Amino acid sequence: MAEKLIALIPGDGIGPEVTREARRLLEWYQGQGLPLTLWDLDLGAERYLKDGTTFPKEVSDKIRAECSAVFLGALGDPRVPDMSHARDILFGLRFGFDLYANIRPVRALSDRLVPLKGRTRADVDFVVFRENTEGVYVGVGGQVRRGTPHEIAINEDINTRFGVERIIVAAFEHAKQHGKKRVHMADKSNAMRHAHELWLRVFDEVGQRYPGIERQHVYVDALCLYLLQDPSQFEVVVTNNLFGDIVTDLGAGLQGGLGMACSANVHPADPTRLGLFEPVHGSAPPLAGKNVANPFASLLTVGALLSHLGYPEHERHIERAITEAVDSGQVTRDLGGDLTTTQAADWVIERIKTA
Ligand code: NAD
Ligand code: IPM
Ligand code: MN
Repeated sequence: MAEKLIALIPGDGIGPEVTREARRLLEWYQGQGLPLTLWDLDLGAERYLKDGTTFPKEVSDKIRAECSAVFLGALGDPRVPDMSHARDILFGLRFGFDLYANIRPVRALSDRLVPLKGRTRADVDFVVFRENTEGVYVGVGGQVRRGTPHEIAINEDINTRFGVERIIVAAFEHAKQHGKKRVHMADKSNAMRHAHELWLRVFDEVGQRYPGIERQHVYVDALCLYLLQDPSQFEVVVTNNLFGDIVTDLGAGLQGGLGMACSANVHPADPTRLGLFEPVHGSAPPLAGKNVANPFASLLTVGALLSHLGYPEHERHIERAITEAVDSGQVTRDLGGDLTTTQAADWVIERIKTA
C-alpha cells in the first residue's frame, strides 16, 4: 500500500497539547500497519516571533506534491494580535488548496453532553457545510482615513455563482449519499439582498436536481433560535463562510463544547485531493501549557482524517471509545471530570487498543 504523508501543524496555545495526543493515536495506527508517515511542521506564533516565518512556499509546495492530509491543532497567540501568521497558514491551506467545504459534524456522542433540557444525543445529529473559500474571509476591502474621526473600514462579502453552487451541491450530495431527507440553507437574504438572493436562487435550482430531498430555507438568526429549541429537525445545514463559523460554535455547545467538535476541510469534487483536518476550537490561551484541554476534538479529528484516507472503520472505533470515556466520566474538567489532557487521551487510546 502506498505510504500517505500527513503534515502535523501543532500551532499555538493548546494546539501543541492536543496535537501531541492526536500524534500518539496516529502512531498507534502506524504500529498496526497503516501506511502513514508523519511530518512535523514547526509553524505558528513561536516560529513567527523568532524569524518571521509564517507559511513558506517550499512547505506549501511539498504539501501539494506529497501530502494526503494536514492536521492542524490551533492557531492564535496574544503576542500576535493581528493573527497575521495564523491567516497565512490557515487561509494558505483553506484557500491555497481550494478546500471549499468545511464540513463540521454536530453530533452529541452521549446524552451527558447535551445541555438542552429533555434532549438526548438522538436530538443532536447534523452536519454543517460551511463554504470555505469566499465570503468576508477573502479579505477584499480596506481602510481609508485610518485613525481619524472620518475613518472608513470595509470588508466585502464575496459570493460567486461558482462558489455558492459547489458548496450547495456538496451539501445535497452528502445528504443523498447518507440517506438524509432534508437540507437547510441559512442566509440573511432579507438584509443582504444582493449577495444572499444568489444563495436563495442557487439553493432552489440545485435542490430541484434532488427530488427526494426536502429543501428548507432559514434565516441564520432564526436558525440560531431553532438550534436551541429543537436541533432534531436538522440533518444537513449549508451556509456561507462567516455564518458557518458562528453557527458551528453554537453547534459545539450542543455537543458538549468546543472540546468535542471536529472538522474536515476538503474539496468534495475531487475526494483524492488532500484534506485539512482541525478541531473546531481555537488555541484557548488561558488553558495553554496546563495539560487541561480536552483532547477529544483532536482525537475525533484524527478519525475524520483517517476516514478521508479510506479508513472509516477507525473513525467509528475512535468515536466509540470517546463515547465510552464520556459515559464513564473519564474526561477533562470542561466535561466535569478531573483528568488531564494526557490521561483522557490515554484512556481513549487504551480503549481503542483493546476493542
Ligand atoms: P477558543 O476556541 O480558543 O476558546 C473558546 C472557549 O472554549 C474558551 O472558554 C476555551 O477555554 C474553551 N475551549 C476551547 N477548546 C477547548 C478544549 N480543547 N478543551 C477545553 N476547553 C476548550 O476561542 P477564542 O478564545 O475565541 O480564541 C482563542 C484564539 O484562538 C484566538 O486567537 C482565535 O483567533 C483563535 N482561534 C483559532 C482557531 C483555529 O486555529 N482553527 C479556531 C478558533 C479560534
Ligand atoms: C475557525 C476559526 C477561524 C475561522 C479563525 C481562527 C480565523 O474561528 O476555524 O472556526 O474563523 O475560520
Ligand atoms: Mn471558529
